[in-house]
Amino acid sequence: MNMASEVEIRTATIDDLAAIFHLGEKVFTPKGFSNLYRTWDEYEVTHLFNSETEYVLVAEVDGQVVGFAMGTIIEKARSAWSYGHLLWLGVDPDVARMSIGSLLFDRFREVMETQGIRMLLVDTQADNAPAITFFQRKGFENPTDHVYMTLYLGKDG
Ligand SMILES: CC(C)(COP(=O)(O)OP(=O)(O)OC[C@H]1O[C@@H](n2cnc3c(N)ncnc32)[C@H](O)[C@@H]1OP(=O)(O)O)[C@@H](O)C(=O)NCCC(=O)NCCS
Repeated sequence: MNMASEVEIRTATIDDLAAIFHLGEKVFTPKGFSNLYRTWDEYEVTHLFNSETEYVLVAEVDGQVVGFAMGTIIEKARSAWSYGHLLWLGVDPDVARMSIGSLLFDRFREVMETQGIRMLLVDTQADNAPAITFFQRKGFENPTDHVYMTLYLGKDG
């Protein structure tokens, strides 16, 4: 079956928010490929839906949300460019490797291009090999290391 032909990519509506949230819980597990400085929770979903409505996309198959892409635009001071940051891309593992992530990304890219964006950013953990391969296939280059450090503020001794 060619799943891609049955997938609808569209802008999310408020009725999709619960499905996006629960799919994200499945995909961005704590030990899995979440992000240290961004947490997947209901506030992330509702906040992005409120503030970045046109940059929240879903993939639907047979009336079910099976994937989503959520992003934002970053304006940097003293930079002529605006950056499109793809914050969250998730596809239900039940329909992995059926080009749904690819279709979501392509639409996200189109939406950003219509906003005049010339550079896209993604970030993920260094051990998220599937996502890194996926983004390289989509043309991303120049992976740059980013170091997180932690300082424990508990009682000493
Ligand atoms: C990354 C992710 C969105 C890919 O979605 P998908 O719908 O399975 O991806 P596609 O079917 O469009 O894959 C396109 C290409 O990406 C690469 N790819 C995708 N998943 C891969 C995997 N598990 N291992 C290696 N390469 C992979 C392949 O080159 C693939 O092409 P191919 O199937 O012809 O070989 C999905 O695996 C996911 O939700 N991962 C968990 C969340 C995450 O890490 N998100 C990204 C950071 S926010």
